Amino acid sequence: MHVASEYEGLAKSGGLADVARALPAALAALGCEVRVLVPCYGPLRDRDFDRLIPSLSVPLNLTERFGCSIRVWQDGPVTVYLLEHNEFFDRPGLYDDAHGPYEDNPLRFSLLTKTAFELCKALDYRPDILHSHDWQTALAGYYRNVHYANDPFFADTRVVFNVHNGAYQGLCHARWLGTIGIDPAHFTPEQFEDHGEINLLKGGVAFSDAIVPVSPGYASELLEEKTSHGLWRQFRTHQSRLQGILNGCDYRQWNPETDRQIPARYSAEDLSGKARCKASLQASVGLAPEAQQPLFGLVSRLTDQKGFHYLIPALHDLLQHPVQLVLLGSGDPHFVGQLRHLAESHPGQVQFTEGYSDTLAHRIEAGSDFFLMPSLFEPCGLNQIYSMRYGTLPIVRLTGGLKDTVVPLRADQSNADEATGLGFTNPVIGELAACLESAVSLYQGQPDLYAQLQQNAMAQRFTWHRAAEDYLALYQSLS
Ligand code: ADP
Ligand code: GLC
Repeated sequence: MHVASEYEGLAKSGGLADVARALPAALAALGCEVRVLVPCYGPLRDRDFDRLIPSLSVPLNLTERFGCSIRVWQDGPVTVYLLEHNEFFDRPGLYDDAHGPYEDNPLRFSLLTKTAFELCKALDYRPDILHSHDWQTALAGYYRNVHYANDPFFADTRVVFNVHNGAYQGLCHARWLGTIGIDPAHFTPEQFEDHGEINLLKGGVAFSDAIVPVSPGYASELLEEKTSHGLWRQFRTHQSRLQGILNGCDYRQWNPETDRQIPARYSAEDLSGKARCKASLQASVGLAPEAQQPLFGLVSRLTDQKGFHYLIPALHDLLQHPVQLVLLGSGDPHFVGQLRHLAESHPGQVQFTEGYSDTLAHRIEAGSDFFLMPSLFEPCGLNQIYSMRYGTLPIVRLTGGLKDTVVPLRADQSNADEATGLGFTNPVIGELAACLESAVSLYQGQPDLYAQLQQNAMAQRFTWHRAAEDYLALYQSLS
């Protein structure tokens, strides 16, 4: 039983949604019976999902119960339950609106997490594993170990906690303790307490049977002071239950040979379609039809995590060269303003779309020559994996999952037979600018080497099948 706040095709803000859909499907393909619980956000209420349980009463704390209903959707072999509680989930955003994060987020997502247990009981479905994702559902381990400690129904249920992004910790005021059902006895520095506030992620680490960051590289980083988002002591304390598992890529959706969202399909053997995708992308976003200039793409949440504070100055330098940029993203208004300015000051050379568009994301992956991903930290990262499959060389900062998936071309080019992209180490303008310059020289001065790297990248496979086998082995080790 997975419980998650996002699910690709239903509600998505980033890669969590991709994983929450693809991993259950891959586990099902290995023979597991997998079900998923997600919130029924406002727009989903109009979809044609059957109402399975019209009324489910969920006890969240010692005194309060919340009335919910459950809808159901069969997504291939995976049964998806949708938690309806309109007061909490019928809102303009998943986690926030123009005024910032919803103040009652701890309550909203605790209800989701607790409902996973009550739903299992209502359905008489005893999961071997309750698999939670990020701070939103981090309380699963606590509920299992405290609220249901003496409930024989969950005697054999183990809790696996995926850490997709340790920077989001579900920090909230201690006054929420009673409401979300945390006994004050557990409000300690070893469990939920963090500088006087509740830290849901920290408690999730303390109470889960397994803690799974989404790449081995990120798992190591969480144990180090500088790269652990402040939680290295907690991760080290529970290190014996920590194991990184690299995400996979859903190649049913991200494959240039079959992708219906791009104007022409192509393969490693015949890249003529990629040239058509580039021309079509340039035309559709209003860039000059320059086939010979390298086109740099970016699709991203606009947050500090993704390195915009040093990427944007480095792009100003890059634009001295004959290159083009196509950028898609939404998020921090500060970065939106800076990217708008970049585009307005380089008409015909830079195009920025503010917003969220799956189709444009696919077209950028297919139509670009390089993909920009200079993240400050990256638990796994999916876009660099998509890029490789589309023969679009990723330019990455070598951190977390980026380091685990991209083989950077060495300065002496001695690893041309295995390199799949370009990389640099420190998140500073100088190193990134040098890396971008080397991308331009590679593209314009060494087309054979560029083509070789493109072939290397397109041959990579990061399958969900492999990841699901790792998860299944972990599940079995817990039983
Ligand atoms: P993160 O989860 O940190 O945002 P990932 O690389 O793991 O980073 O996953 C990002 C996912 O969200 C990808 O599927 C990417 O295509 C998608 N995405 C991010 N921003 C946008 C956007 N503005 N429009 C369309 N898709 C986006
Ligand atoms: C998070 C991370 C990203 C990861 C995704 C899916 O959003 O920022 O690196 O790929 O989750 O696990």
